[in-house]
Amino acid sequence: MHVAIIMDGNGRWAARRGLPRTAGHAQGAKAVRRIVEAAARAGIETLTLYAFSCDNWGRPAGEVAALLRLLRRYLLGETRYCAENRVRVNVIGRRDRLSPDLLRAIEFSERTTAKGSRLHLRIAVDYSARHSILQTARRALSGDASGEEMEFLRLMDEVNHSTLATEGVDLLIRTGGEKRLSDFLLWECAYAELYFTDCLWPDFDANGLDQALHDYAGRQRRFGRLPDAVDAAL
Ligand code: IPE
Ligand code: IPE
Ligand code: MG
Repeated sequence: MHVAIIMDGNGRWAARRGLPRTAGHAQGAKAVRRIVEAAARAGIETLTLYAFSCDNWGRPAGEVAALLRLLRRYLLGETRYCAENRVRVNVIGRRDRLSPDLLRAIEFSERTTAKGSRLHLRIAVDYSARHSILQTARRALSGDASGEEMEFLRLMDEVNHSTLATEGVDLLIRTGGEKRLSDFLLWECAYAELYFTDCLWPDFDANGLDQALHDYAGRQRRFGRLPDAVDAAL
């Protein structure tokens, strides 16, 4: 099962407490640790978290710097836990605009956790789904790609620095109350079940994840077919 989460609401969490937005991001990083643990326990195979979008570069420089600093600290601080708990870390998105420090932390984390087989944790950083689809299309057109969908997906993984033959998202969760995708995994969410909660990301916990999984378990996925045909195919 592939679960993807748009971790939204850090700024509002902080504002409600009269704190700077960056305090919300720091609290959000703690929620990431909780949810990674809970996801592994729940038997989720792949968890993709939206940490920083290409459009987030448009925020004030101080907030951008704080977010990227937190991310680096998270990678350096959590790599050991991930390695010990068989969590494989993979950062997806663009790498051409990240600082050498952050790139080193990403490479360290990916290398150290490469053997993890329990949970595949993908963190989207400087990520834009439209950018990744466009880049993939450019490569597919310029090379001798066969035109098969699998080949396209393999190229998309290359563009995203992902190590997954891009599989579909089963459940997409967005915290923070907004009901939009904000350029996250547009291709992979073609048949994703969508779950929106008003809970702000820093408050999201194992219980919240359980509720989302429970809701998902009650959905009937049809993939354009009739229910009986889907049952027979699975
Ligand atoms: C999500 O929280 C974190 C990132 C986008 C990096 P926000 O910072 O978007 O929080 P709100 O939406 O302003 O509350
Ligand atoms: C989406 O949240 C990006 C991340 C959670 C990293 P935003 O807060 O940036 O999205 P919009 O601006 O509400 O669409
Ligand atoms: Mg937001």
